[in-house]
Amino acid sequence: MATRLYLCVFLLLLIAFQSTMIKATIVLPSPLCRPVLASTKENFQFALNLHIYKAELFLRSTVGRGINDISPGLVDGPAPIGATLANIDDRTKKVVEESGLASIGHIRAIVDMLFLKTPLPVPQLDLSPQVYAKFFDAINLTLKPPFNTYANTNSFLFAAVYASDFLKLFYAGIMSSIVGNPERELAAGIALYEAASYGVFRSLLNDRANLTVSPYTFTVGNGTNFTAQVANQLGGCGLKDEGLSVPLPLGAENRTTTNVIAADVNSLIYTRTAREILRIVFITGNATSPGGLFPHGFQGTLYQRILALKQN
Ligand SMILES: *[C@@H]1O[C@H](CO)[C@@H](O)[C@H](O)[C@H]1NC(C)=O
Ligand SMILES: *[C@@H]1O[C@H](CO)[C@@H](O)[C@H](O)[C@H]1NC(C)=O
Ligand SMILES: *[C@@H]1O[C@H](CO)[C@@H](O)[C@H](O)[C@H]1NC(C)=O
Ligand SMILES: *[C@@H]1O[C@H](CO)[C@@H](O)[C@H](O)[C@H]1NC(C)=O
Ligand SMILES: *[C@@H]1O[C@H](CO)[C@@H](O)[C@H](O)[C@H]1NC(C)=O
Ligand SMILES: *[C@@H]1O[C@H](CO)[C@@H](O)[C@H](O)[C@H]1NC(C)=O
Repeated sequence: MATRLYLCVFLLLLIAFQSTMIKATIVLPSPLCRPVLASTKENFQFALNLHIYKAELFLRSTVGRGINDISPGLVDGPAPIGATLANIDDRTKKVVEESGLASIGHIRAIVDMLFLKTPLPVPQLDLSPQVYAKFFDAINLTLKPPFNTYANTNSFLFAAVYASDFLKLFYAGIMSSIVGNPERELAAGIALYEAASYGVFRSLLNDRANLTVSPYTFTVGNGTNFTAQVANQLGGCGLKDEGLSVPLPLGAENRTTTNVIAADVNSLIYTRTAREILRIVFITGNATSPGGLFPHGFQGTLYQRILALKQN
């Protein structure tokens, strides 16, 4: 009895002591925002879907070729629906092509690390302009004519930022749970690349912030605000994407409204779980209801588990 009492007092003191030491309260994420447990291999396999998406979008829109045309035997499966060349300027085109080629290297590095069998089965992708138009419907922004991401450089850069952003947010989220030194090095190498890629495309958008997104009257700056709202609404876990210009309380150190790199209160990169990513790329706001860019869902056991556990 007495030992129990001492134990209780000790625990109470410990709690009191800790609460003076730890200023930040630990807030459990809401059920919608909790990650589904996944192994290192499963997380990389999940990411492969996003790498394949980025490679196919970037290469088919710039050079009209897919992953298998450039690296025969790496992947296998249905060709993306609706892929088309984008009407973009030459400088942007070269940068997009470079980043698309880099994605092939990232896919190969993951395959090698995990000893995956090639050709890798690809998810069905839908890259048609109508799918990108659907993102705007999510915030009831009915554009006339419907948004065509391939129409010009300004419109295409939104898709380019999204592709890099998904990868950056996902890797930032899994980094601390990666097991094994070579695996951590690989994840860091890819995450840093994707953060750089995101920065490059955001910077290109920033140079164009005051230009209109033809044929509409809104500016590129407004457009970044719309696409951020879309991602935040579909993701369902708060503000993690931001426009190029924000109110002061969201700017770095609350001292600027310039916001080329979206980041948290200490300017750290935001994270998104697999479920949040699925809700956005499916454009359904539901991780178990495929659609949008991935009409038949993702490849890999993490996605299968999310379905089985009904973790929408
Ligand atoms: C969009 O419109 C639908 C139907 O009118 C409404 O239920 C929904 O709340 C609207 N969403 C936003 C973000 O305004
Ligand atoms: C866009 O317009 C704002 C307000 O006039 C200005 O501060 C900013 O420098 C402009 N940006 C570019 C890239 O021209
Ligand atoms: C576009 O951005 C400008 C400058 O931030 C703002 O004044 C304007 O209201 C925005 N327009 C739309 C349609 O959001
Ligand atoms: C969009 O722009 C408005 C007005 O400038 C701002 O208050 C809001 O925070 C922006 N939203 C995002 C997601 O950047
Ligand atoms: C900036 O504002 C936010 C809330 O608006 C606050 O939590 C944060 O401490 C502020 N940061 C600085 C450096 O003042
Ligand atoms: C999510 O999608 C699944 C499969 O279509 C459906 O059964 C479920 O009701 C949806 N959940 C929500 C909250 O919409």
